[in-house]
Amino acid sequence: MALADPALPDFKDCIDATQPNKTLINCCPPAVSGINDYVPSATTVNTRISAQSVEVGSDYYNKYTEAIQKMKNLSPSDPRNFRQQANVHCAYCDGGYTLKGSPKLLYEIHNSWLFFPWHRWYVYFFEKICQKLIDDDTFTLPFWNWDAPQGMQIPSIYNSNVISPLYDCFRNPDHLPPTVINLEWSYGDVQVDPKIQIEYNLAIMYTQMITQSKTPNDFFGKAYRAGDDITTLDGAGTIEQTPHNHVHTWTGTAVDQSNPIDMGALYSAARDPIFFAHHANVDRMWTIWLNNLGGSNFTDKDWLNAYFIFYNEEAKPVRVRVKDCLDITKLGYQYEDVPIPWLDGSV
Ligand code: C2O
Repeated sequence: MALADPALPDFKDCIDATQPNKTLINCCPPAVSGINDYVPSATTVNTRISAQSVEVGSDYYNKYTEAIQKMKNLSPSDPRNFRQQANVHCAYCDGGYTLKGSPKLLYEIHNSWLFFPWHRWYVYFFEKICQKLIDDDTFTLPFWNWDAPQGMQIPSIYNSNVISPLYDCFRNPDHLPPTVINLEWSYGDVQVDPKIQIEYNLAIMYTQMITQSKTPNDFFGKAYRAGDDITTLDGAGTIEQTPHNHVHTWTGTAVDQSNPIDMGALYSAARDPIFFAHHANVDRMWTIWLNNLGGSNFTDKDWLNAYFIFYNEEAKPVRVRVKDCLDITKLGYQYEDVPIPWLDGSV
């Protein structure tokens, strides 16, 4: 296998994925056939807003909860159903697909340069499905602004009441609001004074986004090409490692560490609606790195031509390429301009 080819998933077969406790789980989508190429060309640009600015009971909140509830109410066999959407993440990251041309190697969208573009497309289609279900093409997902003090806790919309479709019972009970997040939390860490934690978090953001992210390889992660064994690549970029991974484990349950669930484990992470707000903020970091920090995208054709397959808002499978997600205005969204205190000192 020549190394000068993009790493691609093989869609001929979707196989059982493996949970952290080693049991198998089927998270395959409905059989994929009749795939069309898709290139976005939005003519209007909607603004994704910060989750902490959303009031429970506001018009926006009502639309958001309606969209998620409708997604949960779709038939379990509909690829746009909420659990099916969560399974998309599971299949792509816990061994649902093999690497095209290398049937012994599992395909994976974490720990390499595919991390940012795959998750951008994934959140994009999730948002499109929300828009479709509530018949409002101006609707956007919120972003969990964990890099600014106001956002350094679980936003209240996700914790307002147990019957809300935004609620998830599998979150760490010690980490509910107003507990301040620790952006590099690991099991066993004790809570420090919130003011000190906020300072630590801002320092972590500065280190990860600036000091440690000098090149596209640093920021996006290492090249992942045809024939590469992802399990030995160890290719995660700065933000994927910290805070991205830590926001997952901090949010997910710690009650039974031997079998983490929902945000705490890849196979189940997207069963928690907060996942998509978390990833909107990860995606926002990409825009900040390019626009405010002089970063640049890869020009390597194996990155640009890598493709993924998703079900769109019409429940039809589409093939999308990395190169077609680089301009978010063509995807029809931008991010609300909120203070970036780790960058400009505006605490
Ligand atoms: Cu695909 Cu936050 O992980």
